[in-house]
Amino acid sequence: MCVMTYLDYSASTPTSLTVLEHMHRIEREYFANINAKHAFALRSKEVVLSYISKMASLLNIPSESLVFTSGATESNNMILFGLAKSYPHKRHIISTSLEHHSVISPLGELQKLGYELDFIPYLHGKLDFEALKKLIREDTLCVSVIAVESETGLVHPLKDIKAICDDYGVPLHSDMTQAVGKIPVDFNSVTYASFSSHKIYGPKGIGACVLMKDDIRPLIYGGRSLSKLRSGTPPNALIVGFAQAVIEALENLEVRISIVTRLRNQLTQKCDNLKIVHVNTPHVGVPHICNLSFMHHDRHELVDQFSNHGFYVSASSACSGQENVSKAVLTVSENMDCATSSLRVSLSHLTSESDIDSFVQVIKKVIQ
Ligand SMILES: Cc1ncc(COP(=O)(O)O)c(C=O)c1O
Repeated sequence: MCVMTYLDYSASTPTSLTVLEHMHRIEREYFANINAKHAFALRSKEVVLSYISKMASLLNIPSESLVFTSGATESNNMILFGLAKSYPHKRHIISTSLEHHSVISPLGELQKLGYELDFIPYLHGKLDFEALKKLIREDTLCVSVIAVESETGLVHPLKDIKAICDDYGVPLHSDMTQAVGKIPVDFNSVTYASFSSHKIYGPKGIGACVLMKDDIRPLIYGGRSLSKLRSGTPPNALIVGFAQAVIEALENLEVRISIVTRLRNQLTQKCDNLKIVHVNTPHVGVPHICNLSFMHHDRHELVDQFSNHGFYVSASSACSGQENVSKAVLTVSENMDCATSSLRVSLSHLTSESDIDSFVQVIKKVIQ
């Protein structure tokens, strides 16, 4: 029998059992439409709001700055198109070449509508701040920079970028999907952010925007809801499950970070001994993402070969398709061979040392 070893936790995570228990209770006992006026609706609303309030307090943001959506894709769309609606005379956006498709695609749509896009160049794997300063214009709508690049784990210095944006009076949006619940984050270093529940052991189908400034126009109109920005009956159990997942992630953040750091070090040390494997993960990288190149091997074929052995890894982020060269790996490694043979191994506090040992054994088989 083939035992499955899941090493793709940046694509999605299993919902935590305690999260499911909280959701089950809400589905059974507090399922009323929280916009209704009767006592059961008010009780349901009170319970849901209590979870939101604990989630917001752990994230160190006001509850009102949270807008629940169907996931980070919707959040990124809501922020970019919502801002465009608010400031129709601002027709220029600055971003990076390493954004997730949920940012690249809306930016592409805005470009079709006549918006001008500029990308901040990288200098030896780091964003060039001087170039950013030169790119900002009178009509710049926003700067959008992903917090943690999802393929290599590269961390962008949002605090420094925000300081530049503040100097020029331009808001900073960040897709924080691979950061929240995985590493410490500070929402004061952004104007708007997005993140998702299913990356942090919560249910799929829910995410959030964090709006540190209340100036975005809605994209979805309808009846009153938890926020004027996102109409529709609030999904009580999904919100509670998401909030509980955030609570568990943040209350256990240090422990989880130390477990995945140990596992990542175990993996990279063992890979360093295999001469054909190159570790691409940058020094300013998150511990849960480890990017490896298997020189002269095709990355998509590698995914299949590992999969045949019961090890599930990704060539890139799950949404980016079948690109042969990884732009992200090329940016951090500046090496084309690394960029055509790279794999993302993403770890969890649920991963064991023996998972890593068995993976290394399979690496030896696959590359021999
Ligand atoms: C960096 C990043 N942004 C956005 C998304 C999209 O998130 P969701 O699946 O919640 O729409 C993902 C998920 O793959 C991601 O990794």
